[in-house]
Amino acid sequence: MKNVLAIYPGSFDPVTNGHLDLIERGAKIFDRLVVSILRNFEKEPLFTIDERVEMLREVTRPWPNVEIDVFSGLLVEYARLRQANVILRGIRAVSDYEYELQMAMMNRKLNKDVETVFMMPALSYSYLSSRLVREIAQLGGPIKITGLVPPVVEERLRAKIV
Ligand code: PNS
Repeated sequence: MKNVLAIYPGSFDPVTNGHLDLIERGAKIFDRLVVSILRNFEKEPLFTIDERVEMLREVTRPWPNVEIDVFSGLLVEYARLRQANVILRGIRAVSDYEYELQMAMMNRKLNKDVETVFMMPALSYSYLSSRLVREIAQLGGPIKITGLVPPVVEERLRAKIV
């Protein structure tokens, strides 16, 4: 078997239990998994990059083959620099498919040596997204997000919003 390094890219603003479910699945089948946060200068994030790194480090502590990193620019270029063979992405529902297919095909066009692998999170997380978590926390209060995000994220959301 080859030594497979997979990159799981995303905004992770903040990391949810759905992301964590995918990280757990990825950590089982890849030799190493690098969870990489996109440094996106256009978006107005809720959590800073440093906060997101801290939260991800804390919640991925159980998996010694999982690393947290930050990238900017093209994902395929970052994958080349890291000598990664795989890009891991999650598909929750059919609605994710079109966007994900487009990205996977474009990334293949840009770098044919990196393979995109899709995994499905547990059904119970199929409706969960960072965007909805941010919205619920901002409008409804942190109590409503219990079970959607790891406890450390819930605490940070409480501290940020209250
Ligand atoms: O979790 P997200 O926000 O849906 O992740 C999107 C992400 C980070 C995977 C995507 O925006 C990305 O790869 N951005 C880096 C820039 C890039 O390579 N763009 C071309 C994609 S075909």
